[in-house]
Amino acid sequence: MQVPRGLEGVIVASTELTKIDGQAGRLVYRGYDVTELAGIVPYEAIAHLLWFGQLPTKEQLGKLQSQLASNRRLPPVVTEFLEQAARVAEPLSLLQTSISILGGLEETKAASIIDASLALTARMPTILATGYRLRSSQAPLEPRSDLGHVANYLYMLTGSVPKQEHVRALDAYFTLLADHGLGASTFVARIAASTLTDVYSAVVAAISALKGPLHGGAPIFVWEMLQAIGNRENARDWLTDHLAKGDRIMGFGHRIYRTEDPRSRVLKRLAKEIVEPRLFELASTVEAEARELLRKEHPERAIDTNVEFYSSLVLHAVGIPPELFTCTFASARSVGWTAHIIEQRADNRLFRPEAEYKGKLDLKVHESPVKTVA
Ligand code: ACO
Repeated sequence: MQVPRGLEGVIVASTELTKIDGQAGRLVYRGYDVTELAGIVPYEAIAHLLWFGQLPTKEQLGKLQSQLASNRRLPPVVTEFLEQAARVAEPLSLLQTSISILGGLEETKAASIIDASLALTARMPTILATGYRLRSSQAPLEPRSDLGHVANYLYMLTGSVPKQEHVRALDAYFTLLADHGLGASTFVARIAASTLTDVYSAVVAAISALKGPLHGGAPIFVWEMLQAIGNRENARDWLTDHLAKGDRIMGFGHRIYRTEDPRSRVLKRLAKEIVEPRLFELASTVEAEARELLRKEHPERAIDTNVEFYSSLVLHAVGIPPELFTCTFASARSVGWTAHIIEQRADNRLFRPEAEYKGKLDLKVHESPVKTVA
């Protein structure tokens, strides 16, 4: 049986987590439209929805919030690793290796799959903020258990209790990014989980896939593109030259959406509320110009903004440095990855496709130039 390259349109698993309607531009988590969840219920409620199947009651939400808060501290061995490596390794590698160390600790190994998912999700912001502060010669901060998941992340990065509007925007971002079907990283997580490896190892694998610029690595390039364009007047010429060189416009296009990504719509609205007007106008001009140029180049398919385009503005506005953009995506996606790992393990079958062999056959070693051992 042959399947298309990139497995486009191929169904490889069943899920009750997320439904994406690429034609209508709709994204649903366990029955709820994501645009109705983002900024309305806290991210911890999304974690409950994805892990346990329903939105929490007030008591359930309070319990999950305090479980997450009490799991934020890092074991000394991870802090020591960050102290050694923060200045020489990039943030995503620090995150991956810290998660890998966490997964190898004796105390972690005994945890149930849900407890491991919860502890991993709770600790990701601490790893990111600790690594960032060490990289920028600032003393790391202890997590604050009186703050929510997202507010504590901002606090640990900046040392100040964040503004309410920033918490609301970043919380909505975390919800919008929490899950997205079988994107490359989630597929990788499910493949790893199908070998019955541990949650931490499956998430490390997912982060490797997220890193690439065709997936979660895009927002920093969006940010750099906006900096390079500089002002609205330059947008059309810059984009025209960029496309003429055969380069892709970052933050545009999606394998599944054939219309605007619904997450992009919400992020654009949030960006308008919190980003400096000059930057927002630059981004919306770039969006309009790029869309028009891409329509001309590809009249056969709509190439619109994806989740990464306005993410870069929202993340910048709430105080996340560009080097943490992809890491922050990883932190938000941790509940989606772990929910998929739980789902995969509940009805597992080892993933083992085949490759069509197109190489040579019947070569003889004694006719090759290699020296024999004897
Ligand atoms: N800029 C310019 N051209 C594009 C873009 C873009 N952003 N996206 C697609 N195209 C063009 C391709 O060049 C290709 O043209 P061709 O047929 O003449 O060669 C055509 O559209 C189809 O491209 P594919 O790569 O087949 O489209 P696919 O659906 O597989 O790509 C992808 C999806 C990888 C996201 C692509 O749109 C892209 O590279 N975007 C830029 C990177 C980006 O923003 N990544 C973040 C994605 S969101 C996420 O992962 C969280």
